[in-house]
Amino acid sequence: MKHFLLLLCLTVPTIYGSFNVSQICEVLSNGVKFQDPSNCSQWYDCTDGVASQPSSCVNGTYFDKHNQTCVSQSEATCNQDLCTIQTNGFIADPTSCSTYFYCSNGKSNRGVCAKDYNFNPIQQVCSSPLAYECTNNTLDYEQLCLLIPDNIFIADTDDCQGWYTCKKNIPSKGQCPPGYLFDATTAFCNFTDNVNCGNRSTTSITTVQTPKPAGECSTPGTYISDNKTCNGFYYCYDDGNNGSMLLFGECNDEYFFDAAKGGCANRTQVDCTYNRCVGDVQWVSVAHSECKAYHKCANNYTGYCGEDYPYFDENTQQCIKTKIDYPSCV
Ligand SMILES: *[C@@H]1O[C@H](CO)[C@@H](O)[C@H](O)[C@H]1NC(C)=O
Ligand SMILES: *[C@@H]1O[C@H](CO)[C@@H](O)[C@H](O)[C@H]1NC(C)=O
Ligand SMILES: *[C@@H]1O[C@H](CO)[C@@H](O)[C@H](O)[C@H]1NC(C)=O
Ligand SMILES: *[C@@H]1O[C@H](CO)[C@@H](O)[C@H](O)[C@H]1NC(C)=O
Ligand SMILES: *[C@@H]1O[C@H](CO)[C@@H](O)[C@H](O)[C@H]1NC(C)=O
Ligand SMILES: *[C@@H]1O[C@H](CO)[C@@H](O)[C@H](O)[C@H]1NC(C)=O
Ligand SMILES: *[C@@H]1O[C@H](CO)[C@@H](O)[C@H](O)[C@H]1NC(C)=O
Ligand SMILES: *[C@@H]1O[C@H](CO)[C@@H](O)[C@H](O)[C@H]1NC(C)=O
Ligand SMILES: *[C@@H]1O[C@H](CO)[C@@H](O)[C@H](O)[C@H]1NC(C)=O
Ligand SMILES: *[C@@H]1O[C@H](CO)[C@@H](O)[C@H](O)[C@H]1NC(C)=O
Ligand SMILES: *[C@@H]1O[C@H](CO)[C@@H](O)[C@H](O)[C@H]1NC(C)=O
Repeated sequence: MKHFLLLLCLTVPTIYGSFNVSQICEVLSNGVKFQDPSNCSQWYDCTDGVASQPSSCVNGTYFDKHNQTCVSQSEATCNQDLCTIQTNGFIADPTSCSTYFYCSNGKSNRGVCAKDYNFNPIQQVCSSPLAYECTNNTLDYEQLCLLIPDNIFIADTDDCQGWYTCKKNIPSKGQCPPGYLFDATTAFCNFTDNVNCGNRSTTSITTVQTPKPAGECSTPGTYISDNKTCNGFYYCYDDGNNGSMLLFGECNDEYFFDAAKGGCANRTQVDCTYNRCVGDVQWVSVAHSECKAYHKCANNYTGYCGEDYPYFDENTQQCIKTKIDYPSCV
C-alpha cells in the first residue's frame, strides 16, 4: 500500500461502528426490526422511515434477524464484522470515504487515510478526491442484508421505482411495474401520486396497487385483465417468498388492456365490452356494432351514424364514409 498514512486501530470490532441507523430506516418498511449495527444485543425498529431508540436483549442474548426477536447467542447470527465476509485484505468502510478496514485472518482493523484522502478500493490505496471520488454514507445493500431477514423489501436509494430483497444475504434488485413507484414505508408499489420519493430519482408513470393473496396468478411477470374495466389490469409479480402478488394498474389514456397481448394497446385495437368511457374521451364506439354505433359519454346517449357517413371513428371522434374495421367495434 502506497501513499498511506496508516492509523490502524487494532480493537475496532465491527464494521458498522458508524453505520447510520436513520439511513437504514429510510429504506425499510414500518415494523421491520434490525440488529443494532454496533451491538448484537440491541435492536431497532422503523416507523415511517425513522428509527426507534435501541431496545435491549436481556441476559446477553442476541437479536436474531430471522426470528425478529432475541435468542441465545448460539442461535443468533452476529456477523457484523466485515472480515467474516472477506477474511484478508483491505475493505472500504461503507460509512466513510476516508476509512477502511484491514482484515487479517478474519480479524478487522480500522484504518484512516490522511486528511482529505479517500480510500480507493480498486487500487487499495488512499487517493486524492481527484483520483477517487467518494460520497460518504451511501447505503451498502450487501451489508444491509446481513442485518435484515431475507425477502424483506428495501427501497432503492437511487431509483424510486426500484427495490431490493435479500436472498441468503445477497441483495437482489427488482422494480415496480411501469406505472408504479416503490413506497418505502409500506413496501408496496403504489401510484406515483401516493409515493413520496424524497431524493430517490423518479421515472414517469401512473397507477395504484391492490395486493391479493399469493397464488392468484400463476406466472410472475405477466399481466391479466381486472375483468371489470377496459383499462384496468393486474400485474403478477414474484413476492420474493416463493409466492406471487397482484398489483392493480391502469393503462394510460388512449390505451386499453389487451389480455391477448398481455399489455396496454391502442384502445381501438381492443375488443372491450366494459364501459369504454375511460379517460378524457367524449365519444366512444359501441362494441360489436360493425363500427356504426357511438356512445356519448357525458349523457349515456347511444346513436347511429346514419347512411351518408355510416362509420364512427373513435380516433377522430366523428362519423366518416370509409369503412372502419377496428377490433374494438367490428
Ligand atoms: C444519518 O442519516 C440521516 C438521514 O439520512 C441524516 O439526517 C443524518 O445527518 C445522518 N447522520 C450522520 C451522523 O451521518
Ligand atoms: C450492547 O447492548 C447491551 C444491551 O443493551 C448492553 O448491556 C451492552 O453493554 C452493549 N455492549 C456494548 C459494547 O456497548
Ligand atoms: C436472566 O438470567 C437470570 C440469571 O440466570 C435469570 O434469573 C433471569 O430469569 C433471566 N431473565 C430472563 C428474562 O430470561
Ligand atoms: C429462530 O428461527 C429459526 C428458523 O428461522 C428456528 O430454527 C429457530 O428455532 C428459531 N429460534 C428461536 C429461539 O425461536
Ligand atoms: C466523510 O466523512 C468523514 C468522517 O466524518 C469526513 O472527515 C470526510 O470529510 C467526509 N468526506 C466527504 C467526501 O464527505
Ligand atoms: C397507496 O397510497 C394510498 C395513499 O397514500 C394509501 O391510502 C394506500 O393504502 C396505499 N396502498 C398500499 C397498498 O400501500
Ligand atoms: C436530499 O438531498 C439533499 C442534497 O443532497 C439533502 O440536503 C437533503 O437532506 C436530502 N433529503 C432527504 C430527505 O434525504
Ligand atoms: C379475468 O379473466 C381471465 C379469463 O377468465 C382470467 O384468466 C383472469 O384471472 C381474470 N382476472 C382476474 C383478476 O380475476
Ligand atoms: C416453492 O414452491 C414450489 C411449488 O409449489 C415447492 O415445490 C417448493 O418446495 C417451494 N419452495 C419453498 C422454499 O418454499
Ligand atoms: C391508434 O390507432 C389509430 C388507428 O390505427 C391511430 O390513428 C392512432 O394514432 C393510434 N393511437 C395511438 C395513441 O397510438
Ligand atoms: C351511464 O350508464 C351507466 C350504466 O348504465 C351508469 O353507471 C352511469 O352513471 C351513467 N352515466 C351517466 C352520466 O348517466
